[in-house]
Amino acid sequence: MRTKYCGKLRIFDLNKIVKLCGWVHKIRNFGPFIFMDMRDYTGLIQVFFESKNNVVFKKAITLRNEFCIQIVGVVKKRDTKNQNFKINTGEIEILAHNLTILNTSKPLPLDYLNDNQNDDLRLKYRYLDLRRFDILENLKVRSKINSLIRNFMTKKNFLEIETPFLTKSTPEGARDYLVPSRNHHGKFYALPQSPQLFKQLLMIAGIDKYYQIVKCFRDEDLRADRQPEFTQIDIEMSFVNAKKIRNLIEKLIKNIFFKIKNVKLSKFPTISFNTSMQKYGTDKPDLRNPIEIIDVSNIFMDKNSMFFFNIDSKENNKIALLCIPGGAKLSRKSIDNYSQYLKKYHINKLFYIKIKNSCKDQKFDSSMKKILNKKIFTKILKKTNAKDGDILFLVANKAFIVNKSLGMLRLKVGHDFNITKKNTWKPLWIVDFPMFSKDKDGHLSSLHHPFTAIKANNIKNLKNVPQSTISDSYDLIINGYEIGGGSVRIHNSKMQEQIFDLIGIDKSVQKEKFSFLIEALKYGAPPHAGIALGLDRMVMLLTNSKNIRDVIAFPKTTSASCLMTDSPSISNNTLLKELGIKIIEKTSS
Ligand code: AMO
Repeated sequence: MRTKYCGKLRIFDLNKIVKLCGWVHKIRNFGPFIFMDMRDYTGLIQVFFESKNNVVFKKAITLRNEFCIQIVGVVKKRDTKNQNFKINTGEIEILAHNLTILNTSKPLPLDYLNDNQNDDLRLKYRYLDLRRFDILENLKVRSKINSLIRNFMTKKNFLEIETPFLTKSTPEGARDYLVPSRNHHGKFYALPQSPQLFKQLLMIAGIDKYYQIVKCFRDEDLRADRQPEFTQIDIEMSFVNAKKIRNLIEKLIKNIFFKIKNVKLSKFPTISFNTSMQKYGTDKPDLRNPIEIIDVSNIFMDKNSMFFFNIDSKENNKIALLCIPGGAKLSRKSIDNYSQYLKKYHINKLFYIKIKNSCKDQKFDSSMKKILNKKIFTKILKKTNAKDGDILFLVANKAFIVNKSLGMLRLKVGHDFNITKKNTWKPLWIVDFPMFSKDKDGHLSSLHHPFTAIKANNIKNLKNVPQSTISDSYDLIINGYEIGGGSVRIHNSKMQEQIFDLIGIDKSVQKEKFSFLIEALKYGAPPHAGIALGLDRMVMLLTNSKNIRDVIAFPKTTSASCLMTDSPSISNNTLLKELGIKIIEKTSS
């Protein structure tokens, strides 16, 4: 139906007769001329109709925005004064000889070009919202990344293998989406939270190198970087250690960044979980921000300080601070606002010291004057390297509260002071995660999933102090986003059972849920390791999108519904009966 794409035409097409298909983007009637921006997925081109060509002109008068059309015309050069350098085709325009209206359009229920449209409306008419050039651009980048990944993995001899969606629960920390079985009354499939166990079984099968770009399903609270169905680049290899996986992924990520952003990333640093928590208050640090949490507990060991900060030396407390360059100019009100911000992280008081010349004669501009003297101040300066014009923000509390709150404050000031530079890229690996986390009742649960191996030199701890064992796992973080996570796997059935026991999975539940894995591990399972990268999050980063929805063609709302298809929806009674399902009215609790 067409000979060219609208957005691809250039001055070298001058005088060519072209046939174009697309939509009326904008139309303007100037009496003897009608001008129209015509759009297809490659961009815009200006088309004009002359009243001299009466038949075509009469048809053009009936055109409205978003009509779907085909035109035949000749490429003309625009007068210099009329050239539009905002669009790629701005040097030229098409004089239309022929116009076919392929379909009319009702006035649109939303102005998709206007950023202030209601979110629900955008999602209800997602197919219209997708006409936005920025979203289209995101989908193009996503498609390019998919193809880069496939090329890269194929060159490295990985096999792309699909794994089932109708399967059994794979614990990744979220609730399962269940699918009732008609053939097996009262039984359910679970949609995979990840293909974790299948990829391990592929290694046991001898597949050696597997990858898949695959949908995963998790019923969990949604956020700006979380969707209930999302896509992973899932990878597994046999006879490799953690380093080998990290090196492979580093190469893949560098390749993607170079091809998509023309950015050459340098070697990714590796930071231990503990160091990350101490320095950044999180295991997903945004290293674009150079500010670190500085522990000054040692400087305030005396009784007077303990009393001042209202903390008990016997508990696991911490006194720590952030040094914010140029922060001394902050007003009392701004400092109060930061103090207020920390309340939700259980910090009642944010202390400050402004570093100024006057500090030299012990005239401190600080909320800690009572305990601040020359000696303490000198020690603080030495520890922090603070300069004139900086401000120190200090908190004292239980260590985990101090880390979390200063971690959040670090992000906030990084943004407010423009310290966290946009358009820079700071990837890193977090390693040496604890194997387990312990809840308040002393129950252990896996920090990664329960198929993660223990670091070799830690196995002896497993029996006596399991909570202090370190796992052989790794997370890939870029600019504060967790882009991927993986581990070396347990390939010994006894060890796997021991881990299930430790995290309190009953023997009968182990049998019911994981007997196939335990059994498989007994048939010469090879050592293996792998990782999964969040494709949606990666595209989000590479397209500077603020929300994961902007890189997914048909995303869900934060309550996991699709406003366009109106799903989830009520099922008909016959089907429910066949499945043996009865809906019980929700009682308000
Ligand atoms: P994990 O649970 O860490 O590991 O998931 C891997 C990566 O998937 C992305 N991700 C998500 N993206 C969008 N929405 C979500 N709801 C969501 N949940 C996770 C993140 C995350 O880093 N089977 C293991 C991997 C392995 O051990 O090989 C797994 O799924 O970017």
